[in-house]
Amino acid sequence: MMIGRQLSIIVLAFVFFISLIPSSSSIPFIVLHGIADKCSSKGVSQFTQLLNNWSGSKGHCIEVGNGAWDSWFMTLQEQTETVCKKVQVKSMKELKDGYNIVGLSQGNLIGRGVLESCDGGPPIKNFISLAGPHAGTASVPLCGSGIMCIIADNLIKLEIYSDYVQTKLAPSGYLKIPTDIPAYLKGCRFLPKLNNELPNQRNSTYKERFTSLQNLVLIMFQNDTVLIPKETSWFGYYPSGAFDPILPPQETKLYIEDWIGLRILDEAGKVRYLGLPGKHLGISQRDMKKYVVPYLEDKALTNTKLVESYKWASSIWTAVGELIGLSEDRPLLHK
Ligand SMILES: *[C@@H]1O[C@H](CO)[C@@H](O)[C@H](O)[C@H]1NC(C)=O
Ligand SMILES: *[C@@H]1O[C@H](CO)[C@@H](O)[C@H](O)[C@H]1NC(C)=O
Ligand SMILES: *[C@@H]1O[C@H](CO)[C@@H](O)[C@H](O)[C@H]1NC(C)=O
Repeated sequence: MMIGRQLSIIVLAFVFFISLIPSSSSIPFIVLHGIADKCSSKGVSQFTQLLNNWSGSKGHCIEVGNGAWDSWFMTLQEQTETVCKKVQVKSMKELKDGYNIVGLSQGNLIGRGVLESCDGGPPIKNFISLAGPHAGTASVPLCGSGIMCIIADNLIKLEIYSDYVQTKLAPSGYLKIPTDIPAYLKGCRFLPKLNNELPNQRNSTYKERFTSLQNLVLIMFQNDTVLIPKETSWFGYYPSGAFDPILPPQETKLYIEDWIGLRILDEAGKVRYLGLPGKHLGISQRDMKKYVVPYLEDKALTNTKLVESYKWASSIWTAVGELIGLSEDRPLLHK
């Protein structure tokens, strides 16, 4: 009798214990690289492999066209459509139960385009954004030398919100000059739609899908001089009409009027604002393990390893750095 009872307790405890062991429900992730980069570059392939090795989840870097060239010259609408086709179950069966996105710089806008507007794709669970120009940027990254850069630099000098430039230069799709907002809203073809900024063209599906995320991790680099302002990585930006102050995300109209559901996600505790040391995309391996990997591991594991969220500390950001200044785009993992 006594032994029978003990046995049943042991069995119960065992069953309970078993149920605590995370099931192997690991879902894959995709990596979307930044401008002037490609999946096969040393930095991006190493980054993808490390996340793959540390998380135990399979990672796929999704390429658009030929990489570097198309990241500059294919419009973001087209880049989004390309990725949307690639992540469909018929093309990538392994994503069918859902997947996570790791976005690098410009790749974040493609990822968000896929999240919000890709019909018929598998569900996206966690979105980990490294240095994404989510609220726009007031400067196009300097390309450098070579024929590609000569073309890019010449396009940048033209009327950026003209149809001509908008259809030829990818970053013109999120160049948001705070002192030229009417022209931006009228001419810019990508970001105003993505962020539901146009009052009479808001798409509730975008908001619905954005708010379906389980976690949105927004990583800003404290020494980022490529994104102007770097706070755009957190959806912070300048007010319309001026280059100061830099508004924290919670004080932007996008948040207050909740155009895409950032506020809903934030109030549900699903947004993590992280400020990490380093330049643009200059994440250390230690920080990758600490802040990115937990979101790529099994869901059950992720819950116990929740990364600390840092709320906006406005006092840190009172110093306004360089405003419009062209800066060097730093390749990933460069020392
Ligand atoms: C990831 O793991 C594989 C297999 O163990 C190894 O060959 C590879 O070098 C690792 N990648 C990196 C970037 O450490
Ligand atoms: C809103 O976006 C979804 C997803 O791309 C699309 O299917 C739908 O047609 C859009 N609705 C409007 C009114 O544009
Ligand atoms: C970031 O910038 C500050 C001030 O310019 C500098 O002191 C610091 O060394 C930089 N840190 C990194 C990681 O580059």
